[in-house]
Amino acid sequence: MTDKSLNYDRLSGMLGEFGQEHVLRHWADLDAEQRENLSEQLKGIDLSELASLVSGEDKATDFAGLAMRAGSPPAVRADGSGAHWSPIQARKRGEEALKNGELGAVIVAGGQGTRLGFDQPKGMFPIGPVSGRTLFQFFADRLLAVNKKYGCRIPLYIMTSDATDQQTRDYFAANDNLGMPVEDLHIFKQGVMPAVDSGTGKLLMESRSSLALSPDGHGGTVSALDRSGCLTDAVSRGIQHLAYIQVDNPLAQLCEPELIGHHLMAASEMTTQVVRKRDPMERVGNVVLVDGQVQIIEYSDLPKSAAEALNEDGSLKLWAGNIAVHLFNVEFLCGVAEQANSLPFHRALKKVPYCDERGQVVSPVQPNATKFERFIFDLLPIAQNAFVVESLASEVFAPVKNAEGAKTDTPETAKKAIADLHRGWLEQAGACVDQGVRVEINPMLALSADDLSEKIGANLRIDADRYFDTKIESGE
Ligand code: UD1
Repeated sequence: MTDKSLNYDRLSGMLGEFGQEHVLRHWADLDAEQRENLSEQLKGIDLSELASLVSGEDKATDFAGLAMRAGSPPAVRADGSGAHWSPIQARKRGEEALKNGELGAVIVAGGQGTRLGFDQPKGMFPIGPVSGRTLFQFFADRLLAVNKKYGCRIPLYIMTSDATDQQTRDYFAANDNLGMPVEDLHIFKQGVMPAVDSGTGKLLMESRSSLALSPDGHGGTVSALDRSGCLTDAVSRGIQHLAYIQVDNPLAQLCEPELIGHHLMAASEMTTQVVRKRDPMERVGNVVLVDGQVQIIEYSDLPKSAAEALNEDGSLKLWAGNIAVHLFNVEFLCGVAEQANSLPFHRALKKVPYCDERGQVVSPVQPNATKFERFIFDLLPIAQNAFVVESLASEVFAPVKNAEGAKTDTPETAKKAIADLHRGWLEQAGACVDQGVRVEINPMLALSADDLSEKIGANLRIDADRYFDTKIESGE
């Protein structure tokens, strides 16, 4: 018997136990490399976990029922009310933590940006309204500025997926790591989950030698941080908290001291920043309190009636929109990483092209496949003292989701939001910015309006689009 047939027998025995042996139906036609590829993919799949997902043993959540019982989460509101400490105290505390080197940063950048219609990793999208800086550059500049201001060295962990990993690495390598010291930059790849036929639960094949796989959701961040050694790296550096953002929000205030301070003052294992929803059906997750636990009900799971429910004063009952900016206690994440099933799977019905029994690729016209994903925010209900901090959308949220032409969340709406915010900072600092002019400020010059007011001279008038990176000449 050859090694290859041994491998076949082993795989076929393993798959047979779960009724998935069809995956090997083209084995005889595959060359050594293709066989190796398929067996590697299969090694990465927990067939018993998949079987229980397919049979629904993990129990799908009744979101409509949850939504009926959902109320407003305990939160520090944008005006500072809601906590027994002040925003100034929180900021001070956060600044101390930064100075002590307690913070690390995580950016999730595994999504493919299909809705945006951009064929490179989203992080490489040019978003600076005047500079044309990319999303990755925005966050690298911000971290470098925070490092400088607080005399720290924040390690950055960037999560990619199969679809974005190589291009992301090449981009950082070709651009001198965007100015970040190489020891402080870690790019790690998230895991995958197989797609199954939604009717039969059988694994779908993308080709004769490859399963149909997709990223396991941003809930895969914890296990990927662990597997890649990033969690160990953070612990060995004495990092106690990780600031987490999505790559698609250029206004995300990565490692912002006041938010960090609230997280620390609340002795929270997970803190999440929210904004007041612009309208009831806005496509953001809803941060709510249900049965004493903070949790997020995704927009797609929230019934219209619950979304539109009002308080007596006419305000939205479920007002808190998830902007996916979180803070995690590292010890908490280490505990989560040790338990395989801390996070539930969510299911999505999708159209997934597949290779049929004749080896032909079929492109379905109707959704044919179930995909499984974990969401990082499902850690909220299991976190001790989960905490919520409200900020103003105009200061912290300008997501880049849709292609130009859509009504909301496009590159143009994000660029405008950045330019408007920075115009406000300049005006607050005494400058006069002409109507229609776009301005952009690099964080190395100022991280906030307060920073700027110290750096600006009298009589500054700005009459053409301007990008300010390290200095402003006054009165020009
Ligand atoms: C997400 C949130 C939503 C929130 C909104 C804010 C989910 C399920 N919903 O919605 O509650 O209000 O952002 O903008 O997350 N990603 C990975 N790997 C994955 C999947 C996603 O890295 O496997 C990253 C993407 O690169 C992206 C981010 O996570 O940066 C968000 O994913 P996306 O699928 O675009 O979520 P939204 O539907 O926009």
